Amino acid sequence: MNEALSNFEFPTSRLEALLISARVPKFQISLVKDIDMIEKMAVPVECFDLKGKIAIVTGSARGIGKAIAESFVLAGASVLAVDVLDSVTLPSNEHMENWHGFQADVSQPAEVAKMTDFCVSKLGTPEILINIAAISSPSPVREMTLENWRMNIDVNLSSVFLCTHAVVPYMIHRSRGAIISFSSVIARTGGEMSAHYAAAKAGIEGFSKSLAREVGPYGIRVNVISPGMIDTEMLKLMPQRQKQKLVERLPLRRIGYPEDLVGLALLLASSAGSYITGQTIHVNGGLFMD
Ligand SMILES: NC(=O)c1ccc[n+]([C@@H]2O[C@H](COP(=O)([O-])OP(=O)(O)OC[C@H]3O[C@@H](n4cnc5c(N)ncnc54)[C@H](O)[C@@H]3O)[C@@H](O)[C@H]2O)c1
Repeated sequence: MNEALSNFEFPTSRLEALLISARVPKFQISLVKDIDMIEKMAVPVECFDLKGKIAIVTGSARGIGKAIAESFVLAGASVLAVDVLDSVTLPSNEHMENWHGFQADVSQPAEVAKMTDFCVSKLGTPEILINIAAISSPSPVREMTLENWRMNIDVNLSSVFLCTHAVVPYMIHRSRGAIISFSSVIARTGGEMSAHYAAAKAGIEGFSKSLAREVGPYGIRVNVISPGMIDTEMLKLMPQRQKQKLVERLPLRRIGYPEDLVGLALLLASSAGSYITGQTIHVNGGLFMD
């Protein structure tokens, strides 16, 4: 392997950042066989550049949201990283000058309004919105309380409406924007103990298709990313034996990592994805095929 890569510490160019962003799993740079071959890709890779763009990423204190928010900073964006956890103010390392943490509960209209005002006044007009914040509180329907149902719908679905509603007028004003929301394979397959979560995620898919039709004429693209089994805190709620059984049936025979979602998020947020709208794209190792 090239010495520059074997001594790798942190990306010094957007090209390196993109490669690292697309890593599977973390820092598995050994996948890159020859730096010269990669350098030849430099021109097409430029269309993934997010330089000068302002992105709001909800649910970015950890897991998939954090991996995506950090990759967007590396790709040149200024990121407002939003989460109900106060740890959102702390990115993983000091190379994150354009990371701006903001603590907010995105299921609460007043907090979403504050988040939007902060973004517009301190960073500028948001051009990218990534709705990732979500909770999972498993329960069979027969034991599900109305409170649990409402909490799931509020955090997992209404938050997507609230953030979109707050941000889309700015995008319309500038005649451009990209909105990406996170669904789940469970929206298509159903999941035990997850009727409320599945309903919310299926709602995101319907909401996003409708919105794509509505705001497409203003140059705004709306898409959904639907992950399968990704190794995060959320997946810890699934029993180990169930995970193992699912992995054995997966065509790719491995669990996903937060970094597996980064390449698609970059595609959909950047000019590389400029003709993609109204789509739900699955990132699940073959767990479900549309
Ligand atoms: N991990 C998986 O296997 C998996 C599978 C399918 C879909 N997804 C989806 O991918 C996305 C990311 O999931 P993850 O696995 O990284 O989960 P995670 O639990 O690690 O991260 C979710 C983040 O959202 C934040 N959050 C929760 N409620 C919030 C609120 N009201 N306001 C602001 N922030 C809030 C949490 O604090 C957390 O940081 C979610 O939309 C999830 O539904 C995950």
